[in-house]
Formats: sequence, structure tokens, C-alpha cells
Amino acid sequence: LSRSIVFRALDEKSRRELASFAHIKHYSAGDVIFNMGAQGQSMMAIAEGTVRVGRVTPTAKEVTLCELTIGDVFGEIALLDGGERSADVKALTNCTLVVLERRSLLDVLQRNPDLSIRLIELLCQRVRKSDERMMEIAFLDLPARLAKALLRLTIAPPGTAEKPLGKLSQSQSEIARMIGNTRENVNRCLRKWQRAGLIDLKDGWLIIRDRPQLELIAEPE
Ligand code: CMP
Repeated sequence: LSRSIVFRALDEKSRRELASFAHIKHYSAGDVIFNMGAQGQSMMAIAEGTVRVGRVTPTAKEVTLCELTIGDVFGEIALLDGGERSADVKALTNCTLVVLERRSLLDVLQRNPDLSIRLIELLCQRVRKSDERMMEIAFLDLPARLAKALLRLTIAPPGTAEKPLGKLSQSQSEIARMIGNTRENVNRCLRKWQRAGLIDLKDGWLIIRDRPQLELIAEPE
């Protein structure tokens, strides 16, 4: 819990208390952790692995809302508002989750205003990102959305002095799900960029060759 952005707000004593109510669950890559519409009384912190939060469209297309990894939490919406799960969550790799039940979390929240503020901050960040995405989907064409996604996926973690990553391992289908488009369209655009020397596609990796040019495509005038 001490690695989680949200639970870092707690002092050691409260964290230990919360941990004593928590249980650990393991999932294998590809497992469904829960589906949208399910009842949910728990929230999860990721101790190991990566999950995909997504939805399925009425035409059965999968859309990725975000990917979450070590230190991130999910499941806070149904836990806090008592409604149904708002999205599907699937393990992308083998995962270890710390599962916190509603009652114990609410007890700790009542005694720790800092934790409530962290949760509110988390929800605010998610609303901001959703707004940004909605604008991208409404107003940007495929190349701009794709360039933005590639730049976002290769950015160094905030607060570090590291350089952007030079390559990414996500499949073209995964990238298509992130930007709400088809693998075929994404492949067509990537091949064009490969011919123009902006990127390379090699051994399952997507290699960024010309970041400034991608930045120009991502931010059209
Ligand atoms: P919950 O609704 O309980 O179950 C699905 C979870 O996915 C949700 O809580 C959030 O933790 C997470 N989630 C849903 N939508 C988004 C989003 N747009 N961005 C990040 N996480 C989300």
C-alpha cells in the first residue's frame, strides 16, 4: 500500500490497520478481474502487473479507457457511490492486487481526511483525462490521435529526468483500442509513417524515429 499514490497519504499506523483488513488476489494475464455492470464492494491497489480498463461498444468493439500499473488503484467508483462497476477491468500481465473492502476502507476514510482528499484528487485527474480524450475523439483526425497516443505511451514517468522511451511494445490492436479506431486503420497510418521515416516496426516493437515530426502531427494548427 505504501507504493500506492492514494494510500501513501496514510501514516504508517493507519496503513497497517488497513492492510490488516485487506486480502491479496492473484490473476493471470488475460483474466477478467470484473466486468462493467457487476456489483462492487471493493477497491484494488496494484502491487504487481498491469491491467486494462475498458468498455465494449454496442457493436462489440473494445475501447481502452486506460492502462493502470503498480501503485495505481481502481474500483473506487462502485465502492464510493454504491453503483455498478463503470467499466471492465482485465489483467494484461500476471497481477497481484491488494483488495480493500468497502466497510474497512470507509472506516479508515472517516478518520483520515488526507486519504479522502487523495481519492478526490484521483477522481479529478481521471475526469481531466476523460475530458481530454473526449476532445481528442471529437475533434482530432486519426493521425493526430495516433501520434498523441504514441507520444503519451513513450513519455518518461512524470517527475523523473529520464528521456522519453524510444520504443513501445503495445500491439497495433491495443493502440487501436486506446484511440477508438480499428487495427486496420492504425496499421495503414503506421506503415505510411514507417515509409516516411517517422517510426519503425520491428520484431513486435514500434520504434520512434522522429519525435518532433510526431509532435507536429499531434498538435495540428
Ligand atoms: P469502478 O466503476 O468501481 O470499476 C471500474 C473501474 O475502472 C472504476 O471503478 C475506475 O477505477 C476505473 N475507471 C473507469 N473509468 C475510468 C477512466 N476513464 N479512467 C481511469 N479509470 C477508470
